[in-house]
Amino acid sequence: MRIVLAPLEGVMDHTVRELLTGLGGYDLCITEFLRVSNHQLLPPRTFYQLAPELENSGLTPCGTPVRLQLLGSQPDTLAINAQRAIELGSHGIDLNLGCPAKTVNKSKGGAVLLKEPQLIADAVAEMRKVVPRDKTLSVKIRLGWDDPNCVHEIVDAIVSAGADELTIHARTKEDGYKAEAIKWHYIAQVKQRLAKEGKALSIIANGEIWNAADAIKCREVSHCDDLMIGRGALATPNLAAVVAGISDKMSWHSVVEMMLNYRKVQVIGSKGHHYSSRVKQWLSQMRQSYPEAEELFTPIRRIKSSDEMQVAIEQYLEASITNRVEAWQSSLEP
Ligand SMILES: Cc1cc2nc3c(=O)[nH]c(=O)nc-3n(C[C@H](O)[C@H](O)[C@H](O)COP(=O)(O)O)c2cc1C
Repeated sequence: MRIVLAPLEGVMDHTVRELLTGLGGYDLCITEFLRVSNHQLLPPRTFYQLAPELENSGLTPCGTPVRLQLLGSQPDTLAINAQRAIELGSHGIDLNLGCPAKTVNKSKGGAVLLKEPQLIADAVAEMRKVVPRDKTLSVKIRLGWDDPNCVHEIVDAIVSAGADELTIHARTKEDGYKAEAIKWHYIAQVKQRLAKEGKALSIIANGEIWNAADAIKCREVSHCDDLMIGRGALATPNLAAVVAGISDKMSWHSVVEMMLNYRKVQVIGSKGHHYSSRVKQWLSQMRQSYPEAEELFTPIRRIKSSDEMQVAIEQYLEASITNRVEAWQSSLEP
């Protein structure tokens, strides 16, 4: 029953991985994607920038393993960079075949490869040659480009090429992120077929898990014990611990304290100056799970400076304890 923290480009960087894994329940993190092209082997510093955890044996500060994700389509380029990531200490390698971004797809990366199972097989096979058997080679897909029934051919390409693990985001590329388009039952079909054919591949279900009830439903419908959680982990920071039955959903007060800690982590990391915009981005996700997020988000949305943001959140925390949130809100009105 593993829970994996999903890659979220532009959001789930090492600072957020540190905070979220510190709350417990996560067994593995996948990094944001590293794009590789033009037969180029990227320098070690690029890998360290994306995953500073590599300097800590590939572990977040609380000890959760981190696996680097690559995005590209040239088998040789993927392989040389996979080899480097492994040498630098990544806990396996993940290949991104799900990204729907137009710019990425135009340069033949991400979900567009779902249309070319043979190219997928070639890429995975080339990576397998350099990723030792004791390191996990995983792939992350959607069900297909526009037809979910394509998932079977895609999965066969991945299994035959020697991957160990597969995360299935149970929507097609054309489905985008529409909640109602989630199709966990396709994952169950894949699992049943592989079992019948005696093919070994560990499968992780992904998509639309926002709370413990969703996790139960997803496990029932997909027949998968292992889950990957993305946006839900931002909306409810200790969601993995809740799903794992280790803790109750954290209080809003603890969430706000965590947002202040985020400043510390960010300042130590390389992106201190992004604190205010990252707080706004994160709070806007939290509104999904915490109605109180709105009372903090609205007054602070004009703040640009990180120092001002920190002070405003500290004052909000104080005001919420002393029931003076309205006065605090008025103090920030333009
Ligand atoms: C802002 C954003 C960035 C993402 N970046 C990546 C990425 O770098 N690599 C990847 O494989 N998937 C990426 N995804 C997809 C997520 O990992 C995940 O598959 C998707 O959000 C569905 O899971 P969820 O409903 O739990 O969020 C991204 C999704 C979002 C919303």
